[in-house]
Amino acid sequence: MTTSFDFFNYLNNELYCEDVKVKEIVGKVGTPAYIYSKNSILEHFIEIRNAFEDVSPLICFSVKSNSNLSICKVLADAGAGFDVVSGGELFRVLELGVSPDKIVFAGVGKTSEELKYALENDIFMFNVESPAELANIDRIAGGLNKMGRVALRINPDIDAKTHDKTTTGKKENKFGIDFDSAGKLIKDIGNYKNIDLKGIHVHLGSPIYSPDPYVQGLEKVYKFLHESLSDNERQRIEYINIGGGYCISYTGEKVKKPHDFSAEIIPVIKKLGCKVIMEPGRFVVGNSGILVTGVTYVKVATWGKKFIICDAAMNDLARPSLYDAFHRAWPVNTDVSMPEIELPEAEEGADRRMELVDIVGPVCESSDILAKERWFPDVKEGGLIAFFSAGAYGFTMSSSYNTRPRTCEILVDGDSFSTIRRRETYEDLIAGEKEFLDV
Ligand code: LLP
Repeated sequence: MTTSFDFFNYLNNELYCEDVKVKEIVGKVGTPAYIYSKNSILEHFIEIRNAFEDVSPLICFSVKSNSNLSICKVLADAGAGFDVVSGGELFRVLELGVSPDKIVFAGVGKTSEELKYALENDIFMFNVESPAELANIDRIAGGLNKMGRVALRINPDIDAKTHDKTTTGKKENKFGIDFDSAGKLIKDIGNYKNIDLKGIHVHLGSPIYSPDPYVQGLEKVYKFLHESLSDNERQRIEYINIGGGYCISYTGEKVKKPHDFSAEIIPVIKKLGCKVIMEPGRFVVGNSGILVTGVTYVKVATWGKKFIICDAAMNDLARPSLYDAFHRAWPVNTDVSMPEIELPEAEEGADRRMELVDIVGPVCESSDILAKERWFPDVKEGGLIAFFSAGAYGFTMSSSYNTRPRTCEILVDGDSFSTIRRRETYEDLIAGEKEFLDV
């Protein structure tokens, strides 16, 4: 049976990642474990690059979605640039030897230290989110005798119709600069002696399931460039950064693909006449990773409720507890076929072997539910469950809450696999505190 998750497939009742049995991997590395498919990552990167090849974008992979060094290296080797949002993310990609002219830096609160670090390393561009930040870059660049290359991040006041907590382009969101303020800054740009204004940046939120908000945002940018700026001012806008947000399917349903987005977006880009930067994260890695967990206990209350208690928890995969996000789950070994499509509203499974369950973790919070009210095949203690679509904002949002060591990460390539982050140990968890103990 084939799942809709590309390189994760069931063969003879066993889940494989590429050509390796998932059970074999966790037999060696234990659970919970994040497992990624290298060829899935590459395929997605190439798919989005091909979809937009008409406008030859610089594709800056959004590091926050999956910052593992080995994964960033796979993408760097394939020609990707990187979108970073902190000194730490910048450190990661510089460590890999990524060329600074492929790095863009976003975020509303870049500190002076972070700005200095990025300027010293000559990154390609800052996506500037406020007049105060622009002044700070100018000041720090002046001190270093450098020019800070910037794009102004516009907040176009557009509803990208995504989750409230991941919408960024509405006027009440903290991100970006409104058009009027941006216009004033551009008219005043000559007073910023160490700023080289290169472009405009727009990122509306994530995940976005339709090209319409992108088109609306870019049309607003076009109007702004042509109605609020002089010819000279407009000519400085060499780049348009269209951000990230391109959706993936979490349910198995068909969703829009990169070429559906590019078909609508490219004509507006061409009208703008700018070079293009993109910042996809989720699309590249989201469906290229799973989280595998072991079943610790099965508990059935007398009133009928069945809990599958597993060894992964909200600290390992935060999205369900944080955003009520839906991740499909299925046993790693089962003779029950995984449905092609599964929707968040559970419908009674026709298969008699299915039961309604909550799959929960061991963390001491009622919100520690990874999958709620799912029709699920029988699993026994010691069994394995895979959570799909966990490659983006999975490990990167994990924590050690309840003093739980963070999981290992594994990368599969064809018929081989390797550890790309070792599982944390108890010693790792207290290493930064131990030296301050007075014993
Ligand atoms: N560019 C900027 C400026 C961003 O803020 C983001 C994501 C991206 C690009 C990449 O978006 P993507 O292509 O991955 O959708 N933790 C949430 C998502 C937060 C996204 C934050 N910004 C989640 O788990 O759904």
